[in-house]
Amino acid sequence: MAGYILALDQGTTSSRAILYDDHARPIKMAQQPTILKTPQAGFVEQDAQQIWQTQISCAHDVINQAGLLATDVSSIAITNQRESIVIWDKQTGKPLAPAIIWQDRRTASYCQALAAENLNAMPQSGTVSNNSQGDMASEVQRITGLRLDPYFSASKIAWLLEHNPKLSVRASKGEIAVGTIDSWLIYKLTGGEHVIDVTNASRTLLYDIHKLAWSEELCARFGIPMNILPKVLPSDGDFGKTKKGLFAKQIPIHSVLGDQQAALFGQGCLEAGMAKNTYGTGCFMLMNIGQKPLLSEHKLLTTVAWQRKSAPTRPDNLSFEQIVQSGRRMLQPPNREVTYALEGSVFMAGAIVQWLRDNLGMFQKSGEVEDLARQVDSSEEVVLLPAFTGLGAPYWRSDISASITGMSRGTTKAHIARAALEAVAYQTYDVLIAMQKDSPHPLTELRVDGGAANNDLLMQFQADLLGVPVLRPKDTEITAKGAALLAGLKTGLYDDATMQASWQVDRVFEPSMSIDIRAQHLNKWQQAISRALMVP
Ligand code: G3P
Repeated sequence: MAGYILALDQGTTSSRAILYDDHARPIKMAQQPTILKTPQAGFVEQDAQQIWQTQISCAHDVINQAGLLATDVSSIAITNQRESIVIWDKQTGKPLAPAIIWQDRRTASYCQALAAENLNAMPQSGTVSNNSQGDMASEVQRITGLRLDPYFSASKIAWLLEHNPKLSVRASKGEIAVGTIDSWLIYKLTGGEHVIDVTNASRTLLYDIHKLAWSEELCARFGIPMNILPKVLPSDGDFGKTKKGLFAKQIPIHSVLGDQQAALFGQGCLEAGMAKNTYGTGCFMLMNIGQKPLLSEHKLLTTVAWQRKSAPTRPDNLSFEQIVQSGRRMLQPPNREVTYALEGSVFMAGAIVQWLRDNLGMFQKSGEVEDLARQVDSSEEVVLLPAFTGLGAPYWRSDISASITGMSRGTTKAHIARAALEAVAYQTYDVLIAMQKDSPHPLTELRVDGGAANNDLLMQFQADLLGVPVLRPKDTEITAKGAALLAGLKTGLYDDATMQASWQVDRVFEPSMSIDIRAQHLNKWQQAISRALMVP
């Protein structure tokens, strides 16, 4: 029997491994925390070896706990925290610096300076189109769909090379490799493959999402030699097999997706206009926008949702339906089918609750926040602005700090806990408004997942603010499932019926707040945001 899929979910605060059976049902999970280090203000790092060791240890544990053997596992699926980078020695495989994590803001001023630069002053300007108009930030958005922000990988890699001349010399000699967390795990699992999946590549700020290739222009601008970058593969590409001796058999890696793209897939958002919001460390709303990379005019991101090697392909100007109706045979276009998404990335969601727990000692376990918040009927005038690592979409202000305002003599920790949950929902509301302006598809429902999706108080408040039903599936661990489903579809273990059966609704939160109360809430939040944005 070899019908199990081993999904590796390497997140910001933990490594997890989940086994899925031949009906895509999770049968066992192993989890180990990882340590985030903040050696200086704005720096967020992890030990790349610890990321690997916790991940491989979870993989072995989960197989043992399930009473299975490695020979029962047909595929490995990988999903991971995105944008974070690891740099390592190609020969020895040793990391050459701590992993720089997506939340790291050390390159904020570098990005600001770059954004202000004139395109004509770009290095290797011969590679820049003479017709280029506008500033560097617009050019970056045009090519990558992203924003010139320290959140993404490029400035982190540039910082490492700039601050370590030895690395820079070795990079030019082709002795080092750089990659996102998926790349690092694949390298360690296979014992040498240097590859990345397209969804992770699309988060680096170095990848052209139209041409589906690394951008020479941007690599030159960031001073990153292209020979240190991994080869880009489709999300269900052939990523290699585990090296001999790691498991009792060599297991092929059949799918890799960034965690938010995996959640979109796992939520069954396969049609344009369908959207999900994942409440993890941060909060990430993604809407499937189909096969054209629509660029945002409201500060959202355009990103690759997935590229399926095995998916049917079509000519650019015809839909599948039109091809079928015309009786024509499918043509093979040069690029494999790519689905794009619009994304609003909010940096602090579950992490706010962790902050209340770990820094303020308000409770022992994150799940206790709901009971505490329910001790009061409202947060009154209290607003928690969670700009602990700046503000992401749709504000993109890395210079703003977190604050709690509107407190009175009667404010208790229950008010602050409630304000913390409300802050998560307010940020999602702001993203949704931007998304509705950008997208031709009106949002009719929002599918939710991640740890905080189990918080009923938060989900009801979310539905009330958004004015659309919020749908919570039975299995809220959707990220790993998305990657597992893709691997199973590739190998034929799963089919469309498995995909449909794997998503079952647990609860629908219908909007029920009166218009006046909703307006009062939003007004309170918008005033707090306006005050914060005025800070120079
Ligand atoms: O873009 C960052 C994101 O991938 C992190 O996800 O689940 O680790 O908060 P998570």
